[in-house]
Amino acid sequence: MKPATSLSSSSSPSPSSLTHFLIYAFVIYLTPTIISGGNETDHEALLKIKSLVTHDPYGALASWNNSFHFCDWEHVYCGKRHKRVTYIELESNGVEGSLSPYVGNLSFLRMLSLVNNSFQGAIPLELGRLSRLRFLFLYQNKFSVVIPANISGCFNLAQIGLSNNELVGSIPKEISFLSKLNFLSLFNNNLTGGIPPFLGNLTSLEMLSVKENPFGGSIPHIVGHLKSLKELYFGGCSLYGTIPDSLYNLSLLINISLGDNHLTGSLHPAIGGKLTVDFSKLRDIYYINLRDNLFGSNEPDEMKFIDSLKNCTGLLRLELGNCNFQGMIPWSIGNLSSQLKFLYLYGNQLHGDLPTSIGNLVGLEMLSLGGNQFAGNVPSTIGNLQKLKVVYLGENQLSGQIPDAMGNLSSLISLYLSSNMLEGVIPSSLGNCRNLLALYLNDNKLSGKIPTPHLQVSSLLVILNLSQNNLFGSLTAEVGSLDMLTILDLSDNNLSGVIPISLGDCGSLLGLSLKGNLFQGVIPQSLSSLKALVVLDISYNKLSGQIPKFLEHLKLEYLDLSYNEFEGANESALSVLGNSRLCGGIVELGLPKLYVWCKKLKRKSHISQTSTNKGFITVAYNQLLKATNGFSESNLIGKGSFSSVYKGTLYEDDGTFVAVKVLHLQIQGAQRSFMRECEAWRNIRHRNLLKIITSCSSADFQGNPFKALVYEFMPNGSLHDWLHSSESTSRLSLIQIMKIFMDIAYALDYIHGDLKPSNVLLDDDMVAHVGDFGLARFLAFISLYKNISTGIRGTIGYVAPEYGVGRQMTSGGDVYSFGILVLEGMTGKRPTDEIFKEGISLHKFASMALRDNIVTNIIDVNIINVYQEEAEVKEIKKEANMKTIIEECVASTVKTGVSCSMNSPTQRMDIKNVVLELQHILNTLQNI
Ligand SMILES: *[C@@H]1O[C@H](CO)[C@@H](O)[C@H](O)[C@H]1NC(C)=O
Ligand SMILES: *[C@@H]1O[C@H](CO)[C@@H](O)[C@H](O)[C@H]1NC(C)=O
Ligand SMILES: *[C@@H]1O[C@H](CO)[C@@H](O)[C@H](O)[C@H]1NC(C)=O
Ligand SMILES: *[C@@H]1O[C@H](CO)[C@@H](O)[C@H](O)[C@H]1NC(C)=O
Ligand SMILES: *[C@@H]1O[C@H](CO)[C@@H](O)[C@H](O)[C@H]1NC(C)=O
Ligand SMILES: *[C@@H]1O[C@H](CO)[C@@H](O)[C@H](O)[C@H]1NC(C)=O
Repeated sequence: MKPATSLSSSSSPSPSSLTHFLIYAFVIYLTPTIISGGNETDHEALLKIKSLVTHDPYGALASWNNSFHFCDWEHVYCGKRHKRVTYIELESNGVEGSLSPYVGNLSFLRMLSLVNNSFQGAIPLELGRLSRLRFLFLYQNKFSVVIPANISGCFNLAQIGLSNNELVGSIPKEISFLSKLNFLSLFNNNLTGGIPPFLGNLTSLEMLSVKENPFGGSIPHIVGHLKSLKELYFGGCSLYGTIPDSLYNLSLLINISLGDNHLTGSLHPAIGGKLTVDFSKLRDIYYINLRDNLFGSNEPDEMKFIDSLKNCTGLLRLELGNCNFQGMIPWSIGNLSSQLKFLYLYGNQLHGDLPTSIGNLVGLEMLSLGGNQFAGNVPSTIGNLQKLKVVYLGENQLSGQIPDAMGNLSSLISLYLSSNMLEGVIPSSLGNCRNLLALYLNDNKLSGKIPTPHLQVSSLLVILNLSQNNLFGSLTAEVGSLDMLTILDLSDNNLSGVIPISLGDCGSLLGLSLKGNLFQGVIPQSLSSLKALVVLDISYNKLSGQIPKFLEHLKLEYLDLSYNEFEGANESALSVLGNSRLCGGIVELGLPKLYVWCKKLKRKSHISQTSTNKGFITVAYNQLLKATNGFSESNLIGKGSFSSVYKGTLYEDDGTFVAVKVLHLQIQGAQRSFMRECEAWRNIRHRNLLKIITSCSSADFQGNPFKALVYEFMPNGSLHDWLHSSESTSRLSLIQIMKIFMDIAYALDYIHGDLKPSNVLLDDDMVAHVGDFGLARFLAFISLYKNISTGIRGTIGYVAPEYGVGRQMTSGGDVYSFGILVLEGMTGKRPTDEIFKEGISLHKFASMALRDNIVTNIIDVNIINVYQEEAEVKEIKKEANMKTIIEECVASTVKTGVSCSMNSPTQRMDIKNVVLELQHILNTLQNI
């Protein structure tokens, strides 16, 4: 098929109803006006715009030359009749330069989108002349200076997106004249001067995001006048003062996000019993984020406002963590929405018992009540919460036994009960939690034996920390079947017996601590197969025999053997060991090389704490430099906002290709994103996820920090290339694309992020591997929920509407992106396609076709053609009924895409059903 760009800018008609649809669409939103002479102005203006582009790595503007009429230039769209420029859509092309004032001459411009490039300098004042402009999207660039006041000249503006730039100064008053504005996104700039009251005049606003700007000041009362407002993002704006009551009157709000400010105020009932905070009018709200603020009072019943959330029946996330809330959690918490997935009260000063009514919140996936002063038992009603994936109750004063019912939580991924006063045995029922990856029971008063025989069934366990308890008995041989373990910390218990030989089977171990127990016997030779081991601490035991030579060959960064009874280590040597953790004692013990490690250790002793975050074998900068021909342009295979990807060969002789993803470290957040990605990938193995081979974290030859990840290379490129290539040879058949959808659906359970066709890569066998998301669900659940701050963002067009711009990701959102991807695959149209503007989205386009029973008209013709070609080759008889079956399959697939991409998260299809449905369709197709 033709690329979408030529579809909309050329005029070659094709006899399908799609064309009619297109024409219809043009007629609605392009008023045909003919103005003579305007052509020349547009032509000149575009060339002037091009002339200020200093770098165009992909030749996005290559067609901007006199060989074609400018209406045929890439990224430029004209009105059909008047031939004036109406849209400029130049997204994610790595373009650098400044924006020419001549843009103000494009007087018919309705949309200007330069999203995700490197435009810098000022936004030209001349933009203010564009009175027809409706959409101004300049986000993710480097525009600096102030927002021009004469933007008010664009009085037809409906949407402004200037987020992720370097804008300074305050929001100009003139912006309040834009009475048609429904979307204003300014987040992540350097804007100051407070959140201005005049924003209250923008009564059409539905989405207002100013988060992550150092505004200061307080929330103006007048914001409560924005009656159409659905989404409000004021997070990270250095705001103080209280939440104005007027905000609770915004009855259309679905998302209110005020986290990470200095907001204060007591949320307890004011005199007269009236709640100062009353959420009961916000009936559609699904996300409330007040975390990381200074709310709170000394009132015992300040959490009573939770009562008022009863009417918010769609509430999905409630985040009140890291404030100063005191008092007890009211019983009424059990009346919160059964949709509630995410309850975050971490890091307050809440006390009292955990109400058993929590067991009513059957929708919960994440429960974080850690870092408070809760006492009493862990309510066994938690066992009712079948969807729970993460339970964080650490750092409280909980006592009693861990309820057996925890074993009912079959979806549980992480269980943190650390630093409480729990006693009794570790329930063997935990072995039923087959998805458990991390189990933290450290720092309690647990006793009895480690139920390894039961735990082994959940061989997914990656982290097991039972440190600082009163566990006794021996460590049984079954530990060897926990072969996914990367961290095993059994330190400071009363464990005895020998170190089991089978421990050597835990080949993924990075950190092993048996410190402070009563282990005896020798260090088994089998530990020499723990090649990944970075930390080994077996100090303070009763181990004896020779210190084995193999320790020399492990890449340990931390080793402690002190306070044992090893041979050859005489009284005085032992005391040396005891004092200096082997340093000094090494030479006498005949392990000179370790001496070097000791020196290193001293220098970076802090690393021993975090070394467990590292882990896999890394490569050096110069190796990657060589592998990629010096990061040459010809090896460059992709470029995103955080990274560039190069093709290369790591080992000259083996000839296998790898993909080297180099992080752009000057970009804020890149470093963190890298660490997350490493962490996330390292522990996940899945057929449909892109495998990471190694990583590099060092410095380049100039001493600048350099970070890269090396992935397996996918010879068949990305799904995006297949869907939108103009080459006739690269086409996917219906069966191929269905298989790809299945592959992605399988991976969807693990990922959490930016799903789009360019992140779906195809191997030799056309098996899809999803890659390149900054944050995997694994990580989200393992460590983040202690103190969540996910700033990942999806890609326009694929991001679920509830995220708007820059919001937190949920699995429902991934299903949405998946739905869009399915529709894109079937129709060959990107969600950002020119035709999908002003109310008609890809989703709507597809659902209208379903409704009118004309699905085959919207399908990418190649899908059906290729299928028929294949059928002919296979000499399948073209019976009439085969055609019907194919059409039905196609319709069911589109229907699945539509159900996944419903606007409301609650209406979306569950991913499990998606897999079943797709499998069914695929079977049908394969059996024709
Ligand atoms: C086009 O823009 C330039 C720069 O803003 C201006 O000098 C010139 O007068 C404009 N030309 C027309 C025809 O509007
Ligand atoms: C806001 O609207 C009020 C009343 O409609 C008007 O008096 C005021 O001048 C407006 N302010 C701004 C800054 O537009
Ligand atoms: C909350 O819901 C109850 C029961 O549905 C209703 O009676 C009450 O009026 C609602 N409150 C508000 C403020 O909407
Ligand atoms: C939930 O609300 C109902 C009335 O609407 C009340 O009878 C019940 O006790 C409440 N449950 C909890 C746990 O507060
Ligand atoms: C395990 O628990 C101990 C004791 O609470 C703690 O000091 C240690 O850091 C934990 N280890 C890991 C890897 O989390
Ligand atoms: C014990 O070790 C010390 C210091 O390494 C050494 O000087 C001494 O000779 C050793 N004693 C015996 C009995 O091996």
